[in-house]
Amino acid sequence: MRTVTVALGSRSYPILIGPGALSKLGTECAAAGLGKRCAVITDTQVGPLYAPAALKALRQAGFDPVLITVPAGEKSKCLKVVSECYDLMAAHRLERKSFVAALGGGVVGDLAGFAAATYLRGIAFVQAPTTLLAQVDSSVGGKVGVNLKSGKNLVGAFHQPRLVLCDLKTLATLPEREFRAGLAEVIKYGVIFDAAFFRSLETNSNQLLRRAPKALTEVVARCCEIKAEVVSQDETETGLRAILNFGHTIGHAIEAIFHYGAYLHGEAISIGQVAAALISNRLSNLPLEDVERIQLLFKRCGLPTHIALRTAQWERLQTAMKLDKKVSGGSVNFVLSERIGAASWGHPVPMDLVHSVLRQLGSRPSGQDVNDTRRHKP
Ligand code: NAD
Ligand code: GLY
Repeated sequence: MRTVTVALGSRSYPILIGPGALSKLGTECAAAGLGKRCAVITDTQVGPLYAPAALKALRQAGFDPVLITVPAGEKSKCLKVVSECYDLMAAHRLERKSFVAALGGGVVGDLAGFAAATYLRGIAFVQAPTTLLAQVDSSVGGKVGVNLKSGKNLVGAFHQPRLVLCDLKTLATLPEREFRAGLAEVIKYGVIFDAAFFRSLETNSNQLLRRAPKALTEVVARCCEIKAEVVSQDETETGLRAILNFGHTIGHAIEAIFHYGAYLHGEAISIGQVAAALISNRLSNLPLEDVERIQLLFKRCGLPTHIALRTAQWERLQTAMKLDKKVSGGSVNFVLSERIGAASWGHPVPMDLVHSVLRQLGSRPSGQDVNDTRRHKP
């Protein structure tokens, strides 16, 4: 079992990474001094697979858990479902010392974390992430929240977990498309922070795609280390933490204009990162060779790197980028990379340049990415 620490003074917490980590849920919650009564929040897909093990581990350590199961999928990340969770938490008489355990992907983590952040003005929570995306990104760093009709993640809080348990065995049941989507966040850490990690992904992408335990352990641990370092330096995103949004300005807009249906988050930010790399080549001297390596790694991992937008879709994409909450003062700010392994934030990018780069990504070289268009018919 590997341990990574998120260093935040008295609110520091460990991330335990390894096969079987979920069986430690009870003992680790006890070691963290959490209260006896708790709620395990999961979804309809993850619950049948892993809730029995989570509940058993908690009961064996003397905890009294109630299981709350929400429908799988992004639609559950809303205030109505949070309100249903509050009622079930109150019915189980959760009090100030009680806690919430999030068992699932990023949807469950964000929802359960938000319920914990707001119930009784904030109780403890722990994360037991079961998707690759959640293990390398969303379970770490304390961003919790829900969506509104008018946009994604518009209501939320910073509420750090007391403990994160990444059980690598749970990734065995993750659908292939979800696993690959998680790899988009993995590759991001290489691009923005660690050139050697990027090179190791280029070398080991086959083992990773086969979900070989050793490759998975190394990758999840390195991603958590990088995220922990960034969050420790800038918990509430006043500066450095923004680099984690590399590729997200265009990626979020792609998700939005296709109504969060055609593209998974990881797929949209794969295209977004390739676009951001091309913009970086023009504005921050990212060498063309690096742009090509980035594009090739996404392709090797089965992620989309092209998108053909019709004029009306480009118009909607522009509007969506301007609505994104990372926009300030009317200009669209981008995170750009200067070379693989380094990134900086707060670069205003003219819409004309974004348009020209996306047009470039619309003209697909023959024989490449055929599957992309079949899967993501715009
Ligand atoms: P998800 O939680 O919807 O999970 C994807 C699907 O996989 C779901 O159907 C789920 O039931 C299923 N699943 C999960 N684990 C499984 C397993 N081990 N075996 C079989 N099926 C499994 O999606 P996600 O990609 O994990 O998370 C996306 C969410 O995360 C978005 O809402 C996004 O906004 C959020 N997010 C948050 C942060 C943050 O910092 N808080 C960062 C990135 C993304
Ligand atoms: N996923 C971006 C962040 O945690 O800041």
